[in-house]
Amino acid sequence: MTDSQLKVFITGATSGIGESLAYVYSKRKATVGISGRRQDRLEMVSEKCRELGGNPISFVLDVKNQLDCKNSADHFIDKAGGINTVIANAGVGGSDELFSGSSSAINHILNTNIIGVTNSILPFLPTLKDQQSGQIGIISSIASTRGFLGHGGYAASKSAVKFLADSWGYQLNKNNISISTIFPGWIATEMTENIKFKMSFLMDSLTAAEKIVSAMDAGKRTYILPWQWKLIVPLMKSVPRWLITKFSV
Ligand SMILES: NC(=O)c1ccc[n+]([C@@H]2O[C@H](COP(=O)([O-])OP(=O)(O)OC[C@H]3O[C@@H](n4cnc5c(N)ncnc54)[C@H](OP(=O)(O)O)[C@@H]3O)[C@@H](O)[C@H]2O)c1
Repeated sequence: MTDSQLKVFITGATSGIGESLAYVYSKRKATVGISGRRQDRLEMVSEKCRELGGNPISFVLDVKNQLDCKNSADHFIDKAGGINTVIANAGVGGSDELFSGSSSAINHILNTNIIGVTNSILPFLPTLKDQQSGQIGIISSIASTRGFLGHGGYAASKSAVKFLADSWGYQLNKNNISISTIFPGWIATEMTENIKFKMSFLMDSLTAAEKIVSAMDAGKRTYILPWQWKLIVPLMKSVPRWLITKFSV
């Protein structure tokens, strides 16, 4: 398949990693389904995709809405003439607000980061299965490694999608569909722009997107970036709880 025949659908393409993924595929002259809730950002990203040689098709989409996700997938397949690659990237961070007396904040994270992923991917699978080819990418996080003080919803959501991908891989691989779970460390995006402490090994989103696409193309089942986190993740598992408690505010 030549790059210009590539048909890629990306959720959360209005900023950050998803936006950069749209540019990486546009440079390959792909037809790129870009989606997100912010129409103005979609227009801006579309324009840049076109400048880079891509063929963008944009969708104002909230991944929490199952029906809208299904309709967008059908519309993309119809308009693009097929699908090769789906990347479930949309996600939100945030605190659990554990003592707020309300589950709204944590439910929003869980619904976006878990249900949003199932809503985004499953509508494409019958087509990928019929053609016996395709690529799925799921953006998890190194925060999936263990419980994360104050951010249980985020850690749990990223861990949940890791296990979804791991489970789905058995059936997908039998149908010649690859699935890659991506575990980014700190990436400079809107999600991290207000973080005050020094983020170790901070990577820009375009470099991250290029590395993610290469990892998916290489058929990697899991991929941690930047590389330094490959060494740190095993250590993170062994930090004792008392130490985390001691240094928490
Ligand atoms: N930045 C990091 O350090 C880092 C590290 C590990 C993992 N990640 C993961 O990487 C992914 C991308 O995040 P990012 O860092 O690029 O942050 P970002 O710049 O804030 O991008 C998040 C994207 O998700 C979209 N989104 C959020 N809620 C949505 C919803 N309900 N429906 C549809 N789209 C939605 C946003 O678009 P709209 O607001 O327009 O809807 C935006 O395009 C996330 O899954 C995040 O958890 C990031």
